[in-house]
Amino acid sequence: MRVLNTKNYEEMSALAAEIIGAQILLKPRCVLGLATGSSPIGTYQQLVREYQAGRLDFSCVRTVNLDEYCGLPAGSPHSYRYFMDHNLFNHVNIRLENTYLPNGTALDMEFEAQRYEMQIENLGGVDLQLLGIGHNGHIGFNEPSDSFPPTVHPVRLTSSTIHANSRLFDRIEDVPTQAITMGVGTILKAQRILLIAGPDKGEIVKKALYGKVTPQIPASVLQLHRDVTVITCEEA
Ligand code: F6R
Repeated sequence: MRVLNTKNYEEMSALAAEIIGAQILLKPRCVLGLATGSSPIGTYQQLVREYQAGRLDFSCVRTVNLDEYCGLPAGSPHSYRYFMDHNLFNHVNIRLENTYLPNGTALDMEFEAQRYEMQIENLGGVDLQLLGIGHNGHIGFNEPSDSFPPTVHPVRLTSSTIHANSRLFDRIEDVPTQAITMGVGTILKAQRILLIAGPDKGEIVKKALYGKVTPQIPASVLQLHRDVTVITCEEA
């Protein structure tokens, strides 16, 4: 595992974008695993700048996102599809049909979970998976539990995650209580993993990277992966 310490959010984002950009240059038809949330916004902005400067070409890139809320109406500004379109996809030359997220409006979530897992496999697996980390150590929507979920699955969100995510909604009652997420096993199948941890994540990153590997801190499983890069902020 490589831990790269940067001064602040801007430097963390620039470095993450460099690593993702290098992946695209090395393999133009790569499959990128992507995340939503506050952590990757700066990274996506930097990728857009690189594209606008003519240094990156997304025309052959495929993407699979970690997760999606369940039950939001199509086009909801709170959906992760909307987030990805507005923060990255609409600003680069990626083909929208090459961007995949779980379908949070599917009628049968168990079936949708199996379908999405197969979809990732059919694309040839993820070359580089970008991750953020929750304050409780969650990755994707894999919350602390007694075991590591192996595959894509529907989840009931914990009150701490609902609370953390409510900052983006008008009322806490509007936050969906269910989501669909890649499993820890799905994430570990990526060839390479890039975890970005903003200034507020110092404590949990230390526990996850240097503590014992336990499903009570889902990100701790990254200690077992052969190619993980973690970018932290000095302020953390
Ligand atoms: C987002 C995701 C989550 C976030 C995590 C950190 O797709 O899967 O695991 O990465 O909740 O969120 P932020 O970056 O908002 O602190």
